[in-house]
Amino acid sequence: MKIVSGSSSLMLSTRISEVMGVPMVHREIKRFPDGECYVRIHENLDNQDIVLVQNTHPDGNIIEYLLLVDAIRQYRIRSLTAVIPYFGYGRQDKRFNEGEPISAKIMAEHLSENVDRIITVNLHNSEIIKWFKVESKEIKAEVEIARYFERFKPDMVISPDKGSIERARFISQILGIPFHAFQKRRIDSERVEIETGDIDVKNKVIAIVDDVISTGGTIATAAALLKNKGASKVIVGCVHGLFVGNALQKMQMNVDILFSTDTIENEKSVVTVANLIGDSLK
Ligand code: R5P
Repeated sequence: MKIVSGSSSLMLSTRISEVMGVPMVHREIKRFPDGECYVRIHENLDNQDIVLVQNTHPDGNIIEYLLLVDAIRQYRIRSLTAVIPYFGYGRQDKRFNEGEPISAKIMAEHLSENVDRIITVNLHNSEIIKWFKVESKEIKAEVEIARYFERFKPDMVISPDKGSIERARFISQILGIPFHAFQKRRIDSERVEIETGDIDVKNKVIAIVDDVISTGGTIATAAALLKNKGASKVIVGCVHGLFVGNALQKMQMNVDILFSTDTIENEKSVVTVANLIGDSLK
């Protein structure tokens, strides 16, 4: 087995190669002056099981994924497994309004072309898995996130909206502490309104868990409400840290600790999913 890292996932690919004791493939990825992508595999992959690790966000990474799949396929490989740590477009998982595409379905179908198997981590909606046209598996990072929360000794786990209820409940069970869910209403792509319900968080350490943090609007609002109610510390963990624009700055005021997994690589990705992916690849 050999690992081909896309440019989105060099750190995670290196960790997977270390936990599995398998080599990384020498490859080249660059951009032409007009922004188009160039990729090249610099070794023979005949008779190998190949694992390609690449996110499909932002859009440029999708092109890179497609080019790498084609470059890998020119060899007489035994199999190609695509590891997509963060599956972009997962949030448009239905036609919310007439005239819209089901983006998650289209992406899943196209990314399945010319690969034998797909492994991804915490889809926004687990139902998306059915749209991949090859054998596929969704890995869940909740246990890893719970273990990281543990060191801060939280008193309660909060789900910022209904989408993370099961995640927050599961983590609260692992930690043996109560769980509570907020109700969220999205005003626009950056702003939300949150109803906390009746909770006592005074002098408590609160853990908030979400699958994706994008603009940081959800977490900034939830953390401000918790601090207003007297929470002593707010610790936030997510699977996929997109942190677009000034998201980190926005959350800084009321969030004491923020961390994510390495599905998206950034300064906050301190929890690795390499072992989980390694186990699935075995
Ligand atoms: C929503 O369904 C997701 O679980 C996240 O809560 C959302 O994507 C976060 O977005 P933002 O950081 O822009 O508020």
